[in-house]
Amino acid sequence: MRSRLRIGVFDSGIGGLTVLKRLVETLPEGVSFHYFADTARVPYGSKPVETLRRYVREIFDLFAHLNVDAIVTACNTSDSILTQSDKAELGVPYFSIIDPTVRRIGESAPGNSTVAIIATENTVKKSLYLRKLFRYESFSKIVQKACPLFVPLIEEGIWEGEIVDSIVKYYLNDFAEIEPDFMILGCTHYPFIKNSIERFLPSKTKVVDPSEYIVRDVADWATILSPEPSTVDYYVSGNTRIFQDILKRYLGRFENVKGVDLNVT
Ligand code: SIN
Repeated sequence: MRSRLRIGVFDSGIGGLTVLKRLVETLPEGVSFHYFADTARVPYGSKPVETLRRYVREIFDLFAHLNVDAIVTACNTSDSILTQSDKAELGVPYFSIIDPTVRRIGESAPGNSTVAIIATENTVKKSLYLRKLFRYESFSKIVQKACPLFVPLIEEGIWEGEIVDSIVKYYLNDFAEIEPDFMILGCTHYPFIKNSIERFLPSKTKVVDPSEYIVRDVADWATILSPEPSTVDYYVSGNTRIFQDILKRYLGRFENVKGVDLNVT
């Protein structure tokens, strides 16, 4: 039997680090994480679905080559556009970010709750959060909005200040009248600007970060095989130095990052 569990985690860029960080904190031992960031092709949010399915299949091929035991989708856009058969063909468990979030919010929200979802254009078009949440009886109103300027801003390392505040205000103005009970951050990049988002919401609004729920699902599944500390290997399709700078700033650590070419087109 293999001595360490190997988990592949991926995103279009740096957003999935918000999931990876929680995974490392929650599964502290015996895991070999492999994080892939498609920084050469980010953002995914507005690209054609067939192009994205090709990108994600290339990432799955990389993970097959790395022999991972499970795949964690730290990217709501990818989770939205993959079909059931894409996931079933993997041969290893696939962890969705949308499903556990819907389940936990759906099961715990009081009746008559209102929800706002902010996400990329593709995630909003596919509307999985909205359609799945409406299966629960707890919600009187669910609205969603695409915020395409957020991802480029966050990838650029701009996480606070006047520019962020004015773009957040521009998008969140629409929700002023609704005063939602829940605001789902439907893109793993958005927790980077959570402070600004919270400033423009009423104090009653609970901001939901889906990374919390996907990580619980992975923790329930994971069987720790080794008492050794966990490790993370990073793979990026774009500039490795820029990614290292982000890791240093966000995780407070300098890490070894490998560049990979996934037939980048
Ligand atoms: C993006 O690349 O547009 C963001 C992907 C996501 O986390 O939904």
